Amino acid sequence: MNDTNSIVIRPARNVLGSLRVPGDKSISHRYAMLAAIAPGRSRFENFAPGADCASTLTCVRELGCEVVRDEKGLVTIDGRGKELQPPARALDCGNSGSTMRMLSGILAAQPFTSELHGDASLSRRPMKRIIEPLTQMGADIQANGGCAPLHIHGGKLHGIEYRPHVASAQVKTAVLFAGLLAEGRTIVREPTRTRDHGELALRAFGAELERTHDAVTIAGGQTLHPLEAYVPGDISSAAFFLCAAAIFPESNLVIDGVLLNPTRSALLDVLAAMGSRISMLRVEEQQGELVGTIALNPGQGREVVIEGALTALLIDELPVLAAIAPFTAGGLQVRDAGELRVKESDRLSAVTRNLKAIGAQVEQTEDGWRIPGRQRLHGGEIESYDDHRIAMAFAIAALKAEGETVINAAQCVAISYPAFFEDLENLVER
Ligand code: S3P
Repeated sequence: MNDTNSIVIRPARNVLGSLRVPGDKSISHRYAMLAAIAPGRSRFENFAPGADCASTLTCVRELGCEVVRDEKGLVTIDGRGKELQPPARALDCGNSGSTMRMLSGILAAQPFTSELHGDASLSRRPMKRIIEPLTQMGADIQANGGCAPLHIHGGKLHGIEYRPHVASAQVKTAVLFAGLLAEGRTIVREPTRTRDHGELALRAFGAELERTHDAVTIAGGQTLHPLEAYVPGDISSAAFFLCAAAIFPESNLVIDGVLLNPTRSALLDVLAAMGSRISMLRVEEQQGELVGTIALNPGQGREVVIEGALTALLIDELPVLAAIAPFTAGGLQVRDAGELRVKESDRLSAVTRNLKAIGAQVEQTEDGWRIPGRQRLHGGEIESYDDHRIAMAFAIAALKAEGETVINAAQCVAISYPAFFEDLENLVER
């Protein structure tokens, strides 16, 4: 990376080898937040190394918990139990929507006022989706036109039955965390199924909850115990290498110790439909989460259409799937992905502009894209829009383009995957 934080990606001949990816971001956030309210010492190996989870750790520390992180990624948190310490200053959530939304569920039940703020991108992202249910539960939350900064005047909460308007695991988790600390029962009925790490983490910390096909119920007033756990590799980070391997006919890739939770692994079905042969080896359960090894060998498949419930399950993988779609045999259609407009950047437009910058034919619709397959792309200049997943997605497309590609503001990969470019270089053959 040079002074202006741009990086040059040269075309590759092949993707070959094996690796482990950093600990899962979604699970790391949840473990750290629940550790704060579980009395005693929790320890997490392979805790996510990116800036987003560091924001959560900073907030947890500010709320009175001792947090120690060693150079190997081991994180120790001394939880305080249900009552946290009033923060001496505003809580800085950085770029992390997960930190702001899910921590709000815990802060809503605290007998003090907290202020949460974030960077320019986070300050544009919608917060009404958590303000509405937490207010119904009894919290008083002020925001700036539905966005951060948030002022949460917490206190005694009561359980509610809530049906989120958007499919969002962050919203579900925020309401369940608040429900744990509320009086009575809280029920969340999801419009479509989203990742279930909130539920699994609550159970791992000793809480009981009931799940039916579309509802999760938690009784308030339960006490958590601390947890010692190994955080599985993040499949949303593995996705970049899997997608890279899928577009090189001679590739062979093995990823060890990666999360295989069925609410996160729909990518494997999509890559299989695009033609890859995928095997899962040594699958085991850790703290309720499935973990295993993935091996991928590429092949030629058909056009893939992602829509409805599948879109929600693939929300973080859509940028990289779109970025490799021109190189697939059948192309890709994505629908029902309006949520991509309110991620770290407007990912619908960011992907479209960047695909066009490297010569791709792409049609952007109101809530997705139509991207034909069998295209030949050239190198070009990519804007990350300070969005980690956009920078990484186009680093993968660049491997298969003809000529060099420059990715501007590429330092944002550190939000979820600080060693991304090094790991990528170790896998590619030129
Ligand atoms: C996440 C849920 C998703 C996802 C985000 C992490 C989580 O967001 O995009 O990267 O850990 O629950 P939404 O809940 O806004 O869909």
